[in-house]
Amino acid sequence: MCGIVGYVGPRDSQAILLSGLARLEYRGYDSAGVAVIDGDGALGMRKRAGKLQVLRDDLAASPLADGTTGIGHTRWATHGGPTDENAHPHLADDDKLAVIHNGIIENFAELKDELLAEGYTFRSETDTEVAAVLLGREYAASRDLTTAFRAVVSRLEGAFTLLAMHRDQPGLVVGARRNSPLVIGLGEGENFLGSDVAAFVEHTRNALAIGQDEIVAITPGGVEVTNFAGETVEVEPFEVVWDAAAAEKGGWSSFMAKEVSEEPEAVANTLRGRLHDGAVTIPELDGLDDLFAGVNRIIVIACGTAAYAGMVGKYALEQWTRVPVDVELAHEFRYRDPVIGPDTLVVSISQSGETMDTLMAVKYAREKGAKTLSICNTQGATIPRESDAIVYTHAGPEVAVASTKAFVAQITALYLLALHVGRIRGVLTDAASAEAVRELEAVPAKISRVLEKEQPHIEQFARWMGDTQSVLFLGRHVGYPIALEGALKLKEISYIHAEGFAAGELKHGPIALVEPGQAVFVIVPSPRGSGELHKKVVSNIQEIRARGARVIAVAEEGDAAVLPFADEVLRIPLAGPLFEPLLAVVPLHIFAMGLATAKGLDVDQPRNLAKSVTVE
Ligand code: F6R
Repeated sequence: MCGIVGYVGPRDSQAILLSGLARLEYRGYDSAGVAVIDGDGALGMRKRAGKLQVLRDDLAASPLADGTTGIGHTRWATHGGPTDENAHPHLADDDKLAVIHNGIIENFAELKDELLAEGYTFRSETDTEVAAVLLGREYAASRDLTTAFRAVVSRLEGAFTLLAMHRDQPGLVVGARRNSPLVIGLGEGENFLGSDVAAFVEHTRNALAIGQDEIVAITPGGVEVTNFAGETVEVEPFEVVWDAAAAEKGGWSSFMAKEVSEEPEAVANTLRGRLHDGAVTIPELDGLDDLFAGVNRIIVIACGTAAYAGMVGKYALEQWTRVPVDVELAHEFRYRDPVIGPDTLVVSISQSGETMDTLMAVKYAREKGAKTLSICNTQGATIPRESDAIVYTHAGPEVAVASTKAFVAQITALYLLALHVGRIRGVLTDAASAEAVRELEAVPAKISRVLEKEQPHIEQFARWMGDTQSVLFLGRHVGYPIALEGALKLKEISYIHAEGFAAGELKHGPIALVEPGQAVFVIVPSPRGSGELHKKVVSNIQEIRARGARVIAVAEEGDAAVLPFADEVLRIPLAGPLFEPLLAVVPLHIFAMGLATAKGLDVDQPRNLAKSVTVE
């Protein structure tokens, strides 16, 4: 949540900050602001409630003076509503210093009391302003921004990324992080800070990831990283693989439309370089076989869509590794005293690599002695850094808040992991591996076929359903998490009631919801896989149809058994049972997007949400 960008160098910082914020807006979009130290050494600041465009319009109407040192912020409100006053930056020390922040300062109330008692005043309801005022007080004592900043961050509790600059020290931006993201972009005679690499990827691909409880000071000519105690620390350089164009909307109507169209590519890129002669090799896991030795239990932890990817992955992990797998929501996992230890492998899944609930669960698992592996889409993110091993998904930057291409990439990465571990454990036969590899290789083209053949029809159908108030989704086996994903996507961007159920659960309660006209999507398993399951789901369709439901079946090409009972049939190509979810989810993504568009909603930035949930 909250996007953060900082710049020092020879160029006009405002333009750089605004384009960085545009790329980070998916992190939060209820207010935005920038602060700039201009050529005369004055600090100018502007912030506005509303989307970034409101700030842009304001700056266009009454520009700030140009300056080459600046910080910018796009907010997802935590403390205090989305107002101009609560927007960042927050100023202190007679408006000579500016601070921006992502996260939650948990001890802000006691710090505020301390400052109030000393006569300081506040203009906002935010925890951030407390850090700014505290920094002003410390600066008055040391007259050195980095020293004052270190004194402040050492007193803060909670999770934060904090950036600050002071007009008396132009050409310097300081930043710190604890359990919240911050990366450094290295330019020629200029340097950048960002919540993620999207903030500066159009300027440089050379980046540094800073660790937990570290402080960075950037000047045009250098970067200095220290820990909170002031000791110099070595930082890890990396080259950003995303290119700036990949994070552009291009000619698409929305990022979500672009990202759904990239689902085939997301799978293909996640497979690239990892399949050889019918077997899987994951270069990131070279030399890490020990991580899997002695593992007798796998726990997959994630939130939201990533957790549904985990639920799909469970079937493959158990089938190919023969290790029992549990899938848990990360925020539930760590608060229930789970029984874990060195024989447990905890696999976290996160597109952003920053989801606080997942991060905390990974840390907790490590503290308990479990082995940890992260499946992540974002370089330089915190969760992979806190894990023993990483398998990257290569879905490319996902900008729309609703996750689509990352979901199929996550399932793909889990399947690769399952095949890798199955081989190491000696339980996966060469034939089974070769068959799975063949299926995986065919997935991108099959997703493309769904997009080509079904998208126009689904969009038309979604428009026709524009007034629908409630949609149910049913699935079974690997189709069950797909039903959950279809429902989540619809709630998230269309704001209508949607629920996903295991089809077998229908008669245990949910069927009471079915009344004439109720729209029900049913993910129909292939009759070629377990014919048994197919028959049961077709029976479910008849049961709901008998009660007046409007049935939309997602079924494989040629499955005629559904035709007499379905009002609509959305077709997916033939695939092995474990690979069907990678295809069946695509019509549901298209449908959610189509319905939200028909309702005139912003599919990229749905209300109340933000892409990286960096607070618990
Ligand atoms: C839904 C969605 C969210 C995320 C969840 C986890 O479309 O995007 O449910 O999947 O917040 O996010 P990551 O994968 O970044 O940990």
